[in-house]
Amino acid sequence: MIVRPPRDDDDEQIYEVSRLAFGGPRQPEPRSLWSAQPGWHGLVAELDDRVVGTLKVRDYRQYFGGAAVPMGGVANVAVAPGARGHGVANALIDAILPEMRDRGQCVSALYPSVPPLYRGRGWEQTGNYERVTLRPEYFAMLPRPAERLVMRRGAKDDMPGLHDCYQRFARDVDGMLDRATDSFKVEWLLDQDILEVVPGEDGTVRGYLTGERPDGEKLVVHDLVADDVDTLRTLFANLARWAGIIEQISLRIDDPAWWQLVLPQPVLHDVRNHPWMLRVVDLPAAVAARGWPVAAHLADTAVDIEVADEHAPWQSGRHRLVVESGTVRCEPGGQGTVRLHARALGPWFAGSADTAMLRRAGVIEGDLVAARVLDLLTGAPRLPRMADSF
Ligand SMILES: CC(C)(COP(=O)(O)OP(=O)(O)OC[C@H]1O[C@@H](n2cnc3c(N)ncnc32)[C@H](O)[C@@H]1OP(=O)(O)O)[C@@H](O)C(=O)NCCC(=O)NCCS
Repeated sequence: MIVRPPRDDDDEQIYEVSRLAFGGPRQPEPRSLWSAQPGWHGLVAELDDRVVGTLKVRDYRQYFGGAAVPMGGVANVAVAPGARGHGVANALIDAILPEMRDRGQCVSALYPSVPPLYRGRGWEQTGNYERVTLRPEYFAMLPRPAERLVMRRGAKDDMPGLHDCYQRFARDVDGMLDRATDSFKVEWLLDQDILEVVPGEDGTVRGYLTGERPDGEKLVVHDLVADDVDTLRTLFANLARWAGIIEQISLRIDDPAWWQLVLPQPVLHDVRNHPWMLRVVDLPAAVAARGWPVAAHLADTAVDIEVADEHAPWQSGRHRLVVESGTVRCEPGGQGTVRLHARALGPWFAGSADTAMLRRAGVIEGDLVAARVLDLLTGAPRLPRMADSF
């Protein structure tokens, strides 16, 4: 078996492997061919001159501590049915890890359909991608906005303001993408069925709503982003106006502000979640790229850690996490006081698991009193969220 970068003339074979794995029409739409897509790198596995395995990494940046951390979003992991069970997926993942590191993608996230595959290679469950379905009448029960705000269909000129509005929100929620890499074009929003904008002053946007109206009695909301509670209530009032026409509004829960603190949550409701996994690919680079807002309030200190990471051996071994004058860095060396399995690094970095949880899961050991500094730094445990699936 050969593992190599894809070529443009692999397009059809790649599509076929992917179609058999995930479904789709027999004839690909031109934009679903890899060579037509921007902002990614990838690998294919070739056996007897045929493509039998695929893996693509999208170029993303993910907010942690208010800073956008370069992230490789692993997608399209698929192996042709006849080639499964012989280590093709493992070989692709092993080959992509050093490539992500070389490209500066110091963390990697993915939405697993087969978690054991990725867990075995150092990814761990970290954040949520949740949806809730509510009846439109439900939004009519909410208080009206104190201020009457204009709301209108968004246009091309709104796009810079809309993107700024998204980023103001996203940088406050650990795990959100910055949507500023080649993998995104904000103009794509102009194709959405629903694109409602609450304009602010001087071309700014205070909030917006995007979504689709598929067949049937449903509305699927994508983004619902608002700077303040009046804007939020204006957007919800817009959703209430679908009452009588549709039965269900599906909302993605990105912003814990409106979900936990503004909507009165229905007594009984179902939330569907597709958890995502995170892996640290290059620990010193990831520590340097992340924001550490709490560090400014901590006395100078250090934690010595020892990482066991057989699939990313460049970060195996001893490191010292140094907190100094409000900054955090990761240096080589130290005593290895706290020992972390590779799988502990993602949840620690994201702050989704504290060291007590990591210990009970068997992925951290050693001096766990010293390890408490690791929790203080990230504010763990807290739930990261991502609004984009891939
Ligand atoms: C999942 C898939 C990519 C695995 O490919 P593969 O080449 O057969 O995987 P490998 O032989 O390299 O096995 C890798 C590891 O994953 C495990 N694994 C593979 N498929 C699994 C499954 N369906 N459930 C649980 N574990 C699985 C293997 O046991 C192996 O574990 P090990 O490293 O501890 O031995 C392949 O079955 C496939 O294309 N499935 C359909 C698409 C899909 O689900 N892709 C994943 C998207 S997130």
